[in-house]
Amino acid sequence: MITACALAFVSLASGFQESPKSGSLKEAARNRFKVGVALATDKLTDRQYTSLVIRHFNSVTPENSLKPSSMLVSPGVYNFTESDKFVAFANSRRLEITGHTLVWHEQSPSFLYQDASGNPLSRTVALSNMRNHIHAVVGRYKGKVKGWDVVNEAVADSGGMRQTPAYRAIGPDYVLKAFEYAAEADPNAELYYNDYNIELNYKRPSALNLITSLRTGGAKLTAIGIQGHYNLSSSLNEIKGGIQQYINNGYNIMISELDVDVLPSSGNPYTAGLPSTIQNSLTQWYGNFFTYVATTPQIKRVTFWGLTDGNSWLNNWPISGRTNHPLLFDRNYRPKPAYNEVIRVLGTSSTPIP
Ligand code: XIL
Repeated sequence: MITACALAFVSLASGFQESPKSGSLKEAARNRFKVGVALATDKLTDRQYTSLVIRHFNSVTPENSLKPSSMLVSPGVYNFTESDKFVAFANSRRLEITGHTLVWHEQSPSFLYQDASGNPLSRTVALSNMRNHIHAVVGRYKGKVKGWDVVNEAVADSGGMRQTPAYRAIGPDYVLKAFEYAAEADPNAELYYNDYNIELNYKRPSALNLITSLRTGGAKLTAIGIQGHYNLSSSLNEIKGGIQQYINNGYNIMISELDVDVLPSSGNPYTAGLPSTIQNSLTQWYGNFFTYVATTPQIKRVTFWGLTDGNSWLNNWPISGRTNHPLLFDRNYRPKPAYNEVIRVLGTSSTPIP
């Protein structure tokens, strides 16, 4: 009795509701879209973490374990310990895997596309390195990974193509080549182009150019991955309008890395928790977003970039060591008001369920 009262008090005092006894994100989404989460491989032995994953999600993305530098230790030499663990975990629980990512300018060994002095390798050598990497990784997990973020972030914020090491060595068709190699290595895998802010007006024209050139070049492009790193001021109207342009061009969409940054550009004001005004804005933001998702059948998956607020990369980016609150579960694995709102809107949405 005393314990129950004490628990109720803690719950009220913290402003959070007790975890509902039943219900989950994936059940609420039904078969309208998949609900995914990015996972850290070193948390897969933590029962509290994995049970929340299994209850709410039917799709997973390794947050880091399938990135080139997590596996490729020196030219031609791989260490697959972490990535194998991740794939085995997800396969044994029947969680669909998104492989993230094959070609990216970050978290990739420089020797793939540059010589020891940092100069671009020849096109031939760089293409061969890219092909070998894609075959090594996609080939190893053939039939086990549902789809790949083949290339990540190829569009520059200033417009046009980002001048990455792969771009400088190979030329603008490096993206098309990466798609060709991935399709060779696993013809049944889904293949995605993944990037941030490509639904926003400033970046969309360049991204649509790139994507059109992939289509013209004959790439297999299953869907466009829109990362979805938002903040409380992100305009849902601009996001919706931008996504609609991709849909109008015949593409399906994956929201591949969703989170909503609640912190100001400097300072660390919410170490003791979110003030209710900000909590309410976050709740509303998520509610509006999922109302949109639930009524847009071309959005096939929404993946959160992290399970709980404590796991989010936004505690360390763009400034390290802060306390951010961007997700649906708090640091104690409890659902936040935004979680309840997402469940509510998914339950009331009038979208026909296929
Ligand atoms: C981030 C991870 O969450 C961090 O753990 C890591 O230190 C850096 O990368 N866009 C992407 C992701 O495509 O791969 C990034 O993930 C977040 C931004």
